[in-house]
Amino acid sequence: MNRSLGVNVDHIATLRQARGTNYPDPVTAAMLAELNGAQGITIHLREDRRHIQDIDFKLMRQMVKSKLNLEMAATYEMVDIALTTRPDMVTLVPEKRDELTTEGGLDVAGQREKLKEVVKKLQNGGILVSLFIDPEGEQVKASNQIDTDYIEIHTGKYADAPNHLEMKRELDRIITACHLGAKLGLGVNAGHGLNYHNIHPLAAIKNIEEFNIGHAIIAKAVMVGMEKAVRDMEELIRFKPVGE
Ligand code: PXP
Repeated sequence: MNRSLGVNVDHIATLRQARGTNYPDPVTAAMLAELNGAQGITIHLREDRRHIQDIDFKLMRQMVKSKLNLEMAATYEMVDIALTTRPDMVTLVPEKRDELTTEGGLDVAGQREKLKEVVKKLQNGGILVSLFIDPEGEQVKASNQIDTDYIEIHTGKYADAPNHLEMKRELDRIITACHLGAKLGLGVNAGHGLNYHNIHPLAAIKNIEEFNIGHAIIAKAVMVGMEKAVRDMEELIRFKPVGE
């Protein structure tokens, strides 16, 4: 299976919004990421527009040549925006105004009817749909039941684990969820909190099609440039069975 890297460029926009300037430009960052091996570009258009703006999304749609993945909340406003500008994929995420970043996965099992309607609307508009969920069997099964194309397994708890034992426990949950998703015929992506130090055990999970990684790549790019930051991660995410 081809393993791809989706680079999330939200935090280029965070730097721009910090001063209200028109630089640095997330579209330029996306172009550099693509030139240096990213197979996809991800942006999160949040309800509070704290980093990516509507104009960024429109410009990205014109400029991104690989795959444009829009992360968004499952609201009517966002569905309209997505259907107008048409990214290649929408990843539905839960959103809270006061969170620093997306804290947990979507409760698909608890809101099947609403999410099923949103998934269908987006798919009818020719957009692939992914659901960002915690690595729980119930959520994987519910995602399959509402006919999503992909799931994205939330790796945040793994990334934030306070010790090796917890990390191993979270890794096992991720492996089980990925296998279940693949067995049910879903495409399986993963992301959140991944960096150059914790990616290795995840690169050994065969069923993961795409990793979506943002903060760590942009943070490294500030120091060494986008080219090295993207190329180093692209090398690390390639499928490597344990032991290699
Ligand atoms: N995947 C999803 C669904 C996300 O919401 C985010 C954060 O925007 C990421 C991946 C990337 O997370 P990080 O910036 O920690 O790499």
